[in-house]
Amino acid sequence: MTPVDADLLADPAFLADLAGLNGALIDSLTAAGVTPQITGNPFYRHMQGESPLTARFMTRNAQKRARLVALARRARSHFEVGVNGGHGILLMMWANPDLRVAGVDLCGTVGAGNPRADIYGPVAMDWLRQRFPGRMRLMRGSSADVLPAYAADPSAEPIDLLRIDGARSLYEADFRALRPLLAPGARVIFDDPGWPQTRATVERLAAEGALIPDADFLPEGGIFAADPVLRLA
Ligand SMILES: C[S@@+](CC[C@H](N)C(=O)[O-])C[C@H]1O[C@@H](n2cnc3c(N)ncnc32)[C@H](O)[C@@H]1O
Repeated sequence: MTPVDADLLADPAFLADLAGLNGALIDSLTAAGVTPQITGNPFYRHMQGESPLTARFMTRNAQKRARLVALARRARSHFEVGVNGGHGILLMMWANPDLRVAGVDLCGTVGAGNPRADIYGPVAMDWLRQRFPGRMRLMRGSSADVLPAYAADPSAEPIDLLRIDGARSLYEADFRALRPLLAPGARVIFDDPGWPQTRATVERLAAEGALIPDADFLPEGGIFAADPVLRLA
């Protein structure tokens, strides 16, 4: 992490904003009588027991956070597949206050013992809309249904940064659905090379020439040493 990113993450104003978001998510779960645990994100572990209001940021994701900050600073418009609790989007808005954002999330749950994004997902979207008025176009539903309709909507903005972090089985379909909206040279970041589906999708799209690895975001250990970043060919 560069010093400027460390500064951002230690900025009391940023931390207050993050606490505001986390507080809204926790309140929604508590009010529903549910243990306040959330899906993994750039700051916290999946379903961690310690409250995000007191927990330290996950060290393992320091590189992920730094790359999201750097990517946001090079973009004007961002689309996130898999908004979840809004943590990635909040970080990117702080990295680049001029960023315009669109995104989609299923806002669903697969049942007992799993995150209740059906409860806190819509709350995160409302919080982001109120915090950044007119700058958040956030949609609820499966990306498989929402993205083709969005891509055909004449009011949809060109995308110059796309983060694919929804259902892994849909990574390739998500890319193909939004491809018509990608600006020339747009960057695409796929979450988590630890998943075989992430690697398979990236390898397939690179092999067919749709995307090329971004030399500015190529880690020493190769493209899968971090969340892979590619550019529209
Ligand atoms: C790992 S979380 C995303 C974390 C988020 N990008 C962040 O930075 O904080 C994955 C999200 O994908 C969403 N998701 C799963 N299947 C989906 C689908 N078919 N369409 C849209 N979103 C989906 C889940 O609801 C969950 O919120």
